[in-house]
Amino acid sequence: MSNKTTKLIVAIDGPSASGKSTVSREVAQVLKIVYVDSGALYRGMTWKAVREGVDVKDPEAVIAMMNDTNWEFFIEDLVLRFTIDGEDPTDHLRSEPVRERVADIAVIPEVRVFMVERLRETAEFGELVMEGRDIGSVVFPDATFKYYLDADPEERARRRHKELVAAEGKGDVKQVLSSLQRRDTIDSTRKTAPLQISLGAKVINTTKMTIEEVVSRIAEEVNAYRARP
Ligand code: DC
Repeated sequence: MSNKTTKLIVAIDGPSASGKSTVSREVAQVLKIVYVDSGALYRGMTWKAVREGVDVKDPEAVIAMMNDTNWEFFIEDLVLRFTIDGEDPTDHLRSEPVRERVADIAVIPEVRVFMVERLRETAEFGELVMEGRDIGSVVFPDATFKYYLDADPEERARRRHKELVAAEGKGDVKQVLSSLQRRDTIDSTRKTAPLQISLGAKVINTTKMTIEEVVSRIAEEVNAYRARP
């Protein structure tokens, strides 16, 4: 845990559907600090590639596109939001074409350097909870708190399937499991900043826990730290 004079940053990493997004969002609300979904930036870049017909497996084309993109960041209701070339991509970030391509965008080292810079700049907005894959290891290795949330693959597939059915009215649990496993493999075997448990991170296995239990545990730890003289 870092010195109390530094700004409070809570880093929450973990694989897809580990419960990290809901937990991070709620922890930020309980603590009344800014919430940053780092994956949204990678998804935003992927959305632009899909829209412009840029092949995500062609790093040069992706980098050229990246260098010709205008991002604006702002805070709304304590949540980091952004526009890309003046448009708000929020509604498209979880669409199927983005979902299937984002891991390929996230393996490109130049894209990661760009994202890490943007993510570090968000600390200018104040104390924050940031979720992702490399927050505790690369973006904020000195974060005040670092957590790594995990859950069994079958449980993660079940959760993601439930979300899909709620959002799109359909979903095949076996296909969800194989898509999650494919992304896990890409995310954890890539050369730059693979998904890993960062040094000093507390691991929470959420398989048998409710969201509320995970949120309370993290919020209690952070509040205990805040209450210290
Ligand atoms: O958390 P998510 O499902 O929205 O992440 C989307 C993709 O972006 C996923 O393939 C991992 C990648 N990602 C990453 O490499 N580093 C981050 N800090 C956040 C997301």
